[in-house]
Amino acid sequence: MHNFEYRHGELYCEDVPVSRIAKEVGTPCYIYSHATLIRHIRAYDQAFKSIPHVMAFAMKANSNLAILRLMAKEGSGVDIVSGGELFRALKAGVPPAKIVFAGVGKSAEEIRDALNADILMFNVESPAEIQAIHDVASSMKKKARIALRINPDIDPKTHPYISTGLKKSKFGIAADRALEEFKQAASLTHVEVVGVHAHIGSQLTEVSPFVESLKKVLGLVEALKGQGINIRYLNIGGGLGITYSDEKPPLPRDLADAISPQLKGLDITLVMEPGRVIVGNAGILVTKALYEKVGEAKRFIIVDAAMNDLIRPSLYSAYHDIRPVSEVIMQRARHTVDVVGPVCESGDFLAKDRMLPEMKPGDLLAVMSAGAYGFVMASNYNSRPRVPEVLVKDGEVHVIRARETYDDLIRGEAVPAFLG
Ligand code: LLP
Repeated sequence: MHNFEYRHGELYCEDVPVSRIAKEVGTPCYIYSHATLIRHIRAYDQAFKSIPHVMAFAMKANSNLAILRLMAKEGSGVDIVSGGELFRALKAGVPPAKIVFAGVGKSAEEIRDALNADILMFNVESPAEIQAIHDVASSMKKKARIALRINPDIDPKTHPYISTGLKKSKFGIAADRALEEFKQAASLTHVEVVGVHAHIGSQLTEVSPFVESLKKVLGLVEALKGQGINIRYLNIGGGLGITYSDEKPPLPRDLADAISPQLKGLDITLVMEPGRVIVGNAGILVTKALYEKVGEAKRFIIVDAAMNDLIRPSLYSAYHDIRPVSEVIMQRARHTVDVVGPVCESGDFLAKDRMLPEMKPGDLLAVMSAGAYGFVMASNYNSRPRVPEVLVKDGEVHVIRARETYDDLIRGEAVPAFLG
């Protein structure tokens, strides 16, 4: 469910015509719906209301300060993966007691900053990292709370680039080594083992991999109890999929219904790290047609957005629905086209082989479901300034990130004196 709908033949974001926003801030631009964000975050939180839980929005999906502030105001924490994300989260007012820190390569500086902020816990991914956290904590005379991320070896049945819980993956500690590693960690003086973490992948469209993973994790929790290690937090990661085209992913409620019964009666707080499901369908990328080109074998619509603005189609062959902002043009002749950007790469496309009406220069297209892993993965490739982000609320349009300028492109660069 989202708030991008046609009214009077025009695509709207909530009560605002998308074409008006495009006129105001230019194209390309990302547009997010406040109402959708709020609905998604509340639906997820509500679904789990029967069990003690901490919601930690996976901010890698969308880390704009305004979005984070909104999450914090809704009572959500965040899942971070870098010092930069910690910085953003603190700036946005996310309470440190609701911040969890994942990732296979945390540096000593990042660990120190997180300990200084007194975050809830580190999700650790290897024995070497446990030692590193211990050493930094010891030098600061602190005790670091940690959860061990285990790799439950479960196939989430999603794109290989976003599967993380298989044996061959770089993430987590193998389930059969976990007990030993937990015992080892529990013997250290400057870490406190408080949780188990298992995130198996992203864009999952079934509940069963979550349930299987939870079963393995609960088995481990039981075994740990036998060893005198009491687990207080159980982190199931994120990963719930969304509808990009015709997928029918489970709702947060379905996930909650499948896993809550297994947690009843356990003295455990559930931690969840949803990303895509909260922001994915709360955002679109708006782009303008520049040219139509009829090639020998293909027809192209060349638009002003490119792979540097939204890399998912190029990187994962991801499907994003593309809709004309004005429905009127749907009456024009239609053709099968590739929608491509101006970047000098054959891999620069937003869509392939789509049936779309003929486009005139200036006609607007909306790339749907672009709120997650959209702007955050944007780059300046081809020296293209990154595009603005806009938040719509109650009929008002708020620019939450300005379009970059050419000066932004060269900020920090220097020509050494020897080059004259
Ligand atoms: N927790 C951990 C430890 C993660 O690694 C991730 C995502 C999440 C939570 C959030 O997962 P979500 O609920 O968003 O599925 N760039 C890719 C997705 C990469 C996901 C990485 N980890 C894409 O555009 O599809």
